[in-house]
Amino acid sequence: MNNALNQLQPYPFEKLRALLGGVTPAADKRAIALSIGEPKHTSPAFVAKALADNLDQMAVYPTTLGLPALRQSIASWCERRFGVPAGWLDAARHVLPVNGTREALFSFTQAMVNRSDDGLIVSPNPFYQIYEGAALLAGAKPHYLACLDSNGFNPDFDAVPADVWQRCQILFLCSPGNPTGALVPLETLKKLIALADQYDFVIAADECYSELYFDEQSPPPGLLSACAELGRSDFKRCVVFHSLSKRSNLPGLRSGFVAGDAEILKAFLLYRTYHGCAMPVQTQLASIAAWNDEAHVRDNRDLYREKFDAVLDILAPVLDVGKPDGGFYLWAKVPGNDDAAFCRDLFEQQHVTVVPGSYLSREVDGVNPGAGRVRMALVAPLAECVEAAKRIRTFVEG
Ligand SMILES: Cc1ncc(COP(=O)(O)O)c(C=O)c1O
Repeated sequence: MNNALNQLQPYPFEKLRALLGGVTPAADKRAIALSIGEPKHTSPAFVAKALADNLDQMAVYPTTLGLPALRQSIASWCERRFGVPAGWLDAARHVLPVNGTREALFSFTQAMVNRSDDGLIVSPNPFYQIYEGAALLAGAKPHYLACLDSNGFNPDFDAVPADVWQRCQILFLCSPGNPTGALVPLETLKKLIALADQYDFVIAADECYSELYFDEQSPPPGLLSACAELGRSDFKRCVVFHSLSKRSNLPGLRSGFVAGDAEILKAFLLYRTYHGCAMPVQTQLASIAAWNDEAHVRDNRDLYREKFDAVLDILAPVLDVGKPDGGFYLWAKVPGNDDAAFCRDLFEQQHVTVVPGSYLSREVDGVNPGAGRVRMALVAPLAECVEAAKRIRTFVEG
């Protein structure tokens, strides 16, 4: 058996189950889960129709590269969304469809890591757990950068020693972040691109929450925006990961893409060909419909905006919690600093589930940057989120 499997940590939800296993929640209260980051808004009907209309495509093998029409609709979306000049993103070379960003982040890491080097995968901390598991199974060592309140919940990249950059093979970014909701600023992205050139590493920007933001007038920038501003028309060393899961409430469609450096994507395509993870044609055709439409994405943002406003009205007076730059999580500081105890007692008294921040991060040099915080996903309908917020407030006010 692959001995690296032994290095994998239990997934945070497993730890959560163990924490809450022996606890009996208040019998008079209906369960509300703010723990799982699964979008719950309605999937767009026109995407479902496109899928249904093309079910006959089940009769054909899809190609790993995907349909030219899908890659073109993605390239055009990137141009519109991130200000990439027309013609820079060649749909044939710079875009690959993936079955959601989860598998893509994992398989990308397997394809990129050079096992003959003493390589590091540099990741924010707390982080989406796949970055770590992917690194370990690829034979690389994760290196964590703390995301603290004192630095806007972004890693302090200036403090990273040169020898870490020297050994870095992939730098994972998550912007807006899970769980912090923090955006990596455009100027930081540009600095990181300069570092990637200096030390020869790949920037893998997980931007699956990029379409969930609050100000319709200023969509958050991504790594492609930084490339556009720098005149980096070849996207050298830069790869972005996007998904329809959160943007379009299609977590079960399993559809996303990677875009960027053509040389890197060529190697990734070769890996994927053997990996065997081509996107079914009917899924590709439904995805084209989703990427070509923004109205449903604006409606989606409206729903989240309403929920964040309502929930923060209730929680901000009693908890240290702010509106994130994007995404659908609140990253709240808990009174007393014991996030697991907060989570357990909240479940027991109010039947509301949240995730302890320390389960989403690793302790480094005696400090766990997620400790003392909890993650709340505002994915349930408005009334349920409001009800949860009221119960959390009652719990905090004790
Ligand atoms: C930060 C982050 N990246 C990637 C994913 C994977 O999403 P999907 O595979 O649905 O695109 C998630 C899902 O929760 C996530 O939170």
